[in-house]
Amino acid sequence: MEIINLQTAIECFDSASELNADEQALMITATEALSHAYAPYSRFRVGAALLLENGVVVKGNNQENAAYPSGLCAERVGIFAAGANYPGIAVLKIAITAASMDFASDHPVAPCGACRQTLLEYEINQQQPIVIIMKGTNGKTYRSVGVRQLLPLFFHEDGLKAK
Ligand code: THU
Repeated sequence: MEIINLQTAIECFDSASELNADEQALMITATEALSHAYAPYSRFRVGAALLLENGVVVKGNNQENAAYPSGLCAERVGIFAAGANYPGIAVLKIAITAASMDFASDHPVAPCGACRQTLLEYEINQQQPIVIIMKGTNGKTYRSVGVRQLLPLFFHEDGLKAK
């Protein structure tokens, strides 16, 4: 038996104002995307903005449904919109933020496991890391260079094929 240490590291800033100007602008677009979230059940809006290598910014936000599991997170709405409308164009960065309709949260919002798995497959296919920038309403801002940093042990399509 051996122990495998899964070590990852991300950057932590005291506030989004410490990001470079382009990333601050991307986070502002993610905040704008919050307003089109459809979250009547959780009352928790999530906004995402994805910068593509052709300069286009694609927005995503959570879209809920009365049949709860039918809804989708902001990150997947965003990356699927990018894949659907700009196939083959790499996603360079995704900024994510969230705001409850009931309380303030200054904790950075990290993508759920399913969104990490989804983002990672795009990252693998495009062969370049997707920078993930995360913040709550205010306060600390996390920045991960690559999805792998958030999901060091992941399921890969190799697992679907016989060796
Ligand atoms: N949500 C996201 O949009 N992204 C995440 O990474 C986690 C959660 C949404 C799903 C649901 O609409 C609401 O937040 C509460 O879970």
